[in-house]
Amino acid sequence: MRKKIVIGNWKMNKTKAEAIETLKLFYAGLGSLDSVEYGFCPPFLYISDMVREGTIAIGAQDVFWKESGAFTGFTSAKMLKDIGAKFAIIGHSERRGRFGKLEVPESTIGSFAETDETVNLKLKACLAEGVIPIVCCGETLAEREAGNTDSVIATQIAGALDGISEADLAPLVVAYEPVWAIGTGKVCDAAEANRVCAMIRSCLPASIRDSIRIQYGGSVNPANAKELFSQSDIDGGLVGGASLKAEDFVQVVQAAVV
Ligand code: PGA
Repeated sequence: MRKKIVIGNWKMNKTKAEAIETLKLFYAGLGSLDSVEYGFCPPFLYISDMVREGTIAIGAQDVFWKESGAFTGFTSAKMLKDIGAKFAIIGHSERRGRFGKLEVPESTIGSFAETDETVNLKLKACLAEGVIPIVCCGETLAEREAGNTDSVIATQIAGALDGISEADLAPLVVAYEPVWAIGTGKVCDAAEANRVCAMIRSCLPASIRDSIRIQYGGSVNPANAKELFSQSDIDGGLVGGASLKAEDFVQVVQAAVV
């Protein structure tokens, strides 16, 4: 059976003191729980501090594919590994410039620069360094309404996995995050989320598809997590807003216990 994995994506939130406080409250609230894998992706700046605080898995919200060099402002998978980060989110829709609620001028979207090709390069870099990759995919509302959900996601998955051997893909985690559900409070219906996650599974190489974990993300909260996580093809969640408060995230992680 696939072990469920629930990851909190803090995005650009919290001061360092708030980050450590939330982590401590989370530890106190959850106690010990071995049957679920869980962790946080804080802003890059706090990763080292949070790693030092304990044994919970800490990851990054992005990564660059080059190992080192003249790449101002970027962070490599090697550097993440060096400071103890266990995993990295790759291709989040907010890094693809696909916002649920568009808050940036349309003309600036390209500057977010994440494409299926960069996702592929980042995935290869993480696999090479032993950083667990969480590859995000998902459709916009316009794509869903046009009936293109499955084809958009199949294209994103094919682009992400291009040229990577089945054996190398074993550590992969995929997150299905419909763009229209992210940060909007409009969660995807559990049966539909499960259908899309099963479709994603069918896009993965046959020899590994049954062992790859596929998360759902998009307005997961303590009230809806249990129904989502109990679906046959949903193996946990990538959780934004509800991971910012320790007591909420404790409940979301507990909802993944089967
Ligand atoms: P949300 O974000 O839970 O706030 O909708 C999820 C995500 O973007 O990973």
